[in-house]
Amino acid sequence: MKIAVAGVGYVGLVTAVCLAEVGHHVTCVDVDSKKIELMKSGKSPIYEDGLENLMNKNQERLVYTTDYKKAYQNANVIFVGVGTPERVDGSANLDYVYKVCENIKESVDDNKIVVIKSTVPIGTNDDIEKRLNENSKIRFYVVSNPEFLAQGSAVHDTFYPSRIVVGVEDKYSEEIMRQVYQPLIESPYNAPYLTMDRKSAEMVKYASNDFLALKISYINEIANFCEKIGADITEVAKGMSYDSRIGNKFLDAGIGYGGSCFPKDTSALHWLSQAMDCELKTVAATIEVNKLQRLKLFERWREDFGNNIKDKTVAVLGCAFKPGTDDLREAPSIYNIELLLNYGVKVNVFDPIAEKNVYLLFEDRIHYCSNIDEAIKGADAAFIMTELQEIVDYNLSYYKKLMKNPYIYDGRNCYSLENVEKSDIHYYSIGRRCIK
Ligand code: UGA
Repeated sequence: MKIAVAGVGYVGLVTAVCLAEVGHHVTCVDVDSKKIELMKSGKSPIYEDGLENLMNKNQERLVYTTDYKKAYQNANVIFVGVGTPERVDGSANLDYVYKVCENIKESVDDNKIVVIKSTVPIGTNDDIEKRLNENSKIRFYVVSNPEFLAQGSAVHDTFYPSRIVVGVEDKYSEEIMRQVYQPLIESPYNAPYLTMDRKSAEMVKYASNDFLALKISYINEIANFCEKIGADITEVAKGMSYDSRIGNKFLDAGIGYGGSCFPKDTSALHWLSQAMDCELKTVAATIEVNKLQRLKLFERWREDFGNNIKDKTVAVLGCAFKPGTDDLREAPSIYNIELLLNYGVKVNVFDPIAEKNVYLLFEDRIHYCSNIDEAIKGADAAFIMTELQEIVDYNLSYYKKLMKNPYIYDGRNCYSLENVEKSDIHYYSIGRRCIK
């Protein structure tokens, strides 16, 4: 099948490349000519495990272009995977989605299926279909096909999705969408495939992401409580996870969730629920708990140092919102670096994958280090913000050896307390006893 994909971010590009791998002919469209040129040279504009290999392997079935007219005209199905960032008031900004739809409308002269992969508020797909078909001689069929891939494992998640959800309002698009996804429904991928009405499909996306965010905020609150009462969150989470109704995923306490999805999707659903006069209170609580959680390491450090932190040096270990990505969107590290700088603290950072993006934000205001030794040397504290493998594998004795003050604040519970106890360091982690 001939497919066009609008947007070459995490959702659009990974979808495009994986659809090419299963046999479709895919044209990737983006307004950013630099990104398009980069992809033409075989390079991915985003870091995602296995993506570049697949781009090169499927060169014959992949085209990259800024010429959206031609791309949309030639396609049977057009996927839309552009961003829906958060507005200042918390609502989702749909400008990019609507712009792409306008472009599609002005470009094509036969019936098209338009598949919205971007996360959009409930009812948006109905509105898009209405706008596309208004005063139009041809017929547009709009499908809601929310994306469930996670960054860092995006390629794997696309081939082996937990489920493919397709929201349709007519038989024709239902049939075509099944053909698009048939290679993934079949062996060896065996993806569960669900069709439903469009609004329900839109809601599945928000309800899933907001539930996962809620699970994280919940375990973080329980962790904070564990600190107060002297329990250990790792043991508590383990004990909970044996109940199959709870499960063992998303129970890692830490300094809060970040990324381009949970923060934005919780805000958008909360905004929508208020606008509909039906506030989702659990979602409001999820957001509030997460905002406070991000500050935990900083506040604890300030307490430990009796507010005397000006001109001290902090090593920030790990900056991306999670391992395996260079994405800094809503990463807790960013809030912490900004805060540290505001208090006159010197900051060393270590994150080999995300460093380039950190530089774009902080330029020469902080010091960039190519390894952990360099970052912690002479430092007064180390904040672990991302559980990068290099950090997890790091020899604990080096903290004592290299730092001025071996005060470790671990926001991702990277080390076992038993090992820490042997290392003669001051170690604060989330929801566990502090080791001094
Ligand atoms: C999330 C969802 O997991 C995907 O299913 C969804 O498709 C995606 O959003 C999206 O809407 O596009 P992602 O944001 O890539 O994926 O990352 P996650 O792996 O879910 O992690 C999000 C944040 O939660 C990270 O900051 C991570 O450190 C944090 N987290 C995760 C915890 O603090 N504790 C946990 O136990 C799990």
